Amino acid sequence: MNNTSSKRTTMRTFVFLMMMLAASTLSMITPTSAQQNDDEKQTMIDHDGTDHYSSRSVRLSSDTTNIGSNERKILIENDYEVTYGTYFKIVRMKCGFDHAVKNPGKCTKNTYVLRKRGTDVPTIDPNTNEMIELVSEDGTETRHFEIPATSIAVGGTFALAYLEALDVDAETLKLIDSQYMHSPCMQLAVQNGEIIDQASAVYDPVDWSVDTTAWSAKCDELNVDLTFTDEYGTGKCGNREEVNVLFHGNADDTAILRAEWVKFVSLFFDKEQFANEYFALESDAVEAIKTYVEKGIVASLSEKKTCVWVQKMGSYYEILHDTFRTSLCVDAGMLAYQGEAGFLKKAFAIDTQQEAFHSAIRDYDVVVDESYFYDVSSLNRSAYESNLAFDQLSGQTVKAKDGNGGLLLRVDASRGNGMTDDLKESGEVRPALLLNDLVTNVYGGTLSNDDACPKYFRNADESAIYVTHENCAALENADNEKKCVTDLKEEAERKTPSALFADSSAITTRDAIVATFGVSIATALSVLFAIA
Ligand SMILES: *[C@@H]1O[C@H](CO)[C@@H](O)[C@H](O)[C@H]1NC(C)=O
Repeated sequence: MNNTSSKRTTMRTFVFLMMMLAASTLSMITPTSAQQNDDEKQTMIDHDGTDHYSSRSVRLSSDTTNIGSNERKILIENDYEVTYGTYFKIVRMKCGFDHAVKNPGKCTKNTYVLRKRGTDVPTIDPNTNEMIELVSEDGTETRHFEIPATSIAVGGTFALAYLEALDVDAETLKLIDSQYMHSPCMQLAVQNGEIIDQASAVYDPVDWSVDTTAWSAKCDELNVDLTFTDEYGTGKCGNREEVNVLFHGNADDTAILRAEWVKFVSLFFDKEQFANEYFALESDAVEAIKTYVEKGIVASLSEKKTCVWVQKMGSYYEILHDTFRTSLCVDAGMLAYQGEAGFLKKAFAIDTQQEAFHSAIRDYDVVVDESYFYDVSSLNRSAYESNLAFDQLSGQTVKAKDGNGGLLLRVDASRGNGMTDDLKESGEVRPALLLNDLVTNVYGGTLSNDDACPKYFRNADESAIYVTHENCAALENADNEKKCVTDLKEEAERKTPSALFADSSAITTRDAIVATFGVSIATALSVLFAIA
């Protein structure tokens, strides 16, 4: 899967050339701090004399641009910091994202030192000239990896989605747990025997104890040298503590911040450029959809729609009002339920607070229902409504009930192995599709939504799709033909009723990066674009 359109590549080349020009012009007058920085580093050449990370094109971008950073020490969103040496990178976890700040026990400030395969373990931090710490900031050991890894294990399926986004294939990705996996292409890899499939945890049916020995034994057998695990230790290789990397992708607050963790994963494969471009495209597409929704849809409504997420869980009805869900509603042009600050949800006891629950959501135009059912194949709207007690007296007038003018959406539009939903899998790395899918469901036929691209939401009247390995080819084609994200972005820009996009659909907000190089350069560029 390659998400960079040729148009974009052309644009990028122009932007890059112009930036080089701008940089060299400037340096004739006075060297930029970034260049000074680079020049100093020239003195620190690795043992074979090659400075592998000297070009910004192979380094991570610290923002949503598709061009890597000028700096050799880059902070990504307070999540982690990368220092590039000549043949290695030092990745220091910062644990500064909201979830980690609120749950300090969930994030460890590990240091990962990633060196080119076959090179010596580096000892000096090229930025500080000090010894690289043997123990990380919060007391855990500093872990060393040779990259690219040769044998990777991933037990959690959301982490798998990031590897798929980076096109990490079955040559290095050796061990997965497909039990609760959605991905049609990973299902195909298992079907073809290209990947070893092993339950990462086996639950004892009597005492619910967890047994991970079979997974850990497979790690040993396959000589696994890298695994991405989560804060619960999913898919940890038990006998090789030094290969486990704690990955936080799905803990961030918004869809776009979650997707940005693709950059973190890319560090382990020297795929920074790919990750920068992937994230730039997703960010551009999300911005284009938001702008389209605002100017092309919401502008013509007499008032904004309202949106709330709910679920029935155990003996409670819950309103889910965390930032991730709330911001999806807002990005889709709606007013979101405002919950009490500092809380992620509000619970109502089924026995005693049914009326209060219905009152709280009564007037909302869109109710997104996340209540989980193992098998939805025989369920219809009546079943989802009675689950939320819309058939009871206090529920009769809830707007989202059939016939009352509202909308009841489900998050299980697409189901994979073990009745899993794609929202929690590819939904974590595809923020543009996620947003567009919500927009499409809320407002009806708006932007195209190719059948083969992932689906996350459905109207409660529609049935779920079940994906198998047979859906892989169509999805890959759609991605290769850029039908899922690139086309979406371009269509959103084209359809947005605005002078800015009307005559320059190819020039995205991001490519207006040139603005930072001064008006004259920007003018020169727009002339070039016009010629192109
Ligand atoms: C939903 O399914 C139930 C049970 O299968 C059935 O009795 C009912 O008529 C269905 N309702 C609708 C609206 O199709």
